Amino acid sequence: MAGEPGGSGFSRRHLLFGGAAAAGAGAAAVLGAQALAGALAPTEDGTAASARGVGATAVGDALVPFHGAHQAGVETPPQTHARFIALDLRSDVDAAALRRMLRVLSDDAARVTQGRAPLADSEPELALAPARLTVTFGFGPGLVARAGGIAPDWLRPLPPFGVDRLRPEWSDGDLLIHLGADDPVTVAHAARMLLKDARSFANVRWSQQGFRRAAGAEASGSTMRNLFGQLDGTVNPVPGSADFDELVWSNGGPGWMAGGTSLVLRRIAMDLDGWDRVDRPGREAAVGRRLRDGAPLTGAREHDEPDFAALTPVGFPVIADYSHLRRSRSDVPGERIFRRGYNYDEAPAGGAVSDAGLLFASYQADVDRQFVPIQRRLDELDLLNEWTTPVGSAVFAIPPGCGPDGYVGDSLV
Ligand code: HEM
Repeated sequence: MAGEPGGSGFSRRHLLFGGAAAAGAGAAAVLGAQALAGALAPTEDGTAASARGVGATAVGDALVPFHGAHQAGVETPPQTHARFIALDLRSDVDAAALRRMLRVLSDDAARVTQGRAPLADSEPELALAPARLTVTFGFGPGLVARAGGIAPDWLRPLPPFGVDRLRPEWSDGDLLIHLGADDPVTVAHAARMLLKDARSFANVRWSQQGFRRAAGAEASGSTMRNLFGQLDGTVNPVPGSADFDELVWSNGGPGWMAGGTSLVLRRIAMDLDGWDRVDRPGREAAVGRRLRDGAPLTGAREHDEPDFAALTPVGFPVIADYSHLRRSRSDVPGERIFRRGYNYDEAPAGGAVSDAGLLFASYQADVDRQFVPIQRRLDELDLLNEWTTPVGSAVFAIPPGCGPDGYVGDSLV
């Protein structure tokens, strides 16, 4: 119906042309862009690379499939750049409009992740270096309600924790678009394409950017370092393993989540100035691991098992009971999570030197069963709390992936 978000007359063609026109591109330019987009699809012989005027590069041309049983961007080895964008649905968006929106966004994502310009892309050359781009969609409780679906029990804001200093501008949201790529221009372009197509349905609530080391800067498979200089992500389920499948992919809960997972995204500020005042032994004691190589204080190598029973000559535990390692580890095997976080570093305010921290991203089959007990323990006691403060928090259902004829969310909407 005319006037409805993405409603009739709002065919995809109409919607996209409208979006591009609003962005200042004339219809002729859009037609030109579409023709170019078709002509510039990459091929295995490197057409895309030559079309953008450069030779093929291992980083720029690398592709991650979009379609599949699971959405990409969870098991995918983390890319260098990430952007997490939460949107609030407009009040007039109903299930039919949701369906239209998810179709359009999935189509955009399917193209742009494969190095093909989305329809009505007015800068199609920017799509030609996918650089392992992934686009992962997440649903907040508001979106599931709007679809008339049954939400998993855990799909709601986390319970409050004593350490929290949460701010609404970094919390919650109806729809999550999570982009990751090894190139920041690719991320910026993909984000703009998707947001242009989403704007008749939803408004941006918050956008958070994160980074890791550049592709090729260290050996692949290296554990990332956070801005405290710690190896962060040593103990994690291994993607593709049976252990990972059991811990991360949904088992039980509403049928539309089969093959999906959950994301807890916490924006955690890290007090780098306070950390500067701690000596190296103090820093290592706070986590229970060595800074140089991430080995537990009782071991020699990063992946050595910690020995919590080991004592110092004067009888104290070598790995302190209040250390982050001791407190975050559970004795219950199923009470584990998959961490895939990113550093952030923004412009400081009020005379500070830095506004930095971690976009702590945790994936698990069940938030209440896996994430919450760990966070509760850390809330009660964790020396790292001296220098870390959660300032944002959001929980999303990450629905399963889709096939070439479907769209992400087709099992729900
Ligand atoms: C800015 C905040 C945080 C920092 C700087 C941080 C840092 C670290 C570091 C350096 C390690 C040891 C190496 C590793 O296994 O990755 C670690 C382990 C871990 N962290 Fe954190 N962490 C933070 C927040 C959290 C939060 C909020 C949770 C969950 C609620 C969490 C859960 C874990 C778990 C489960 C482990 C592995 C424990 C094990 O060895 O079994 N961390 N973290």
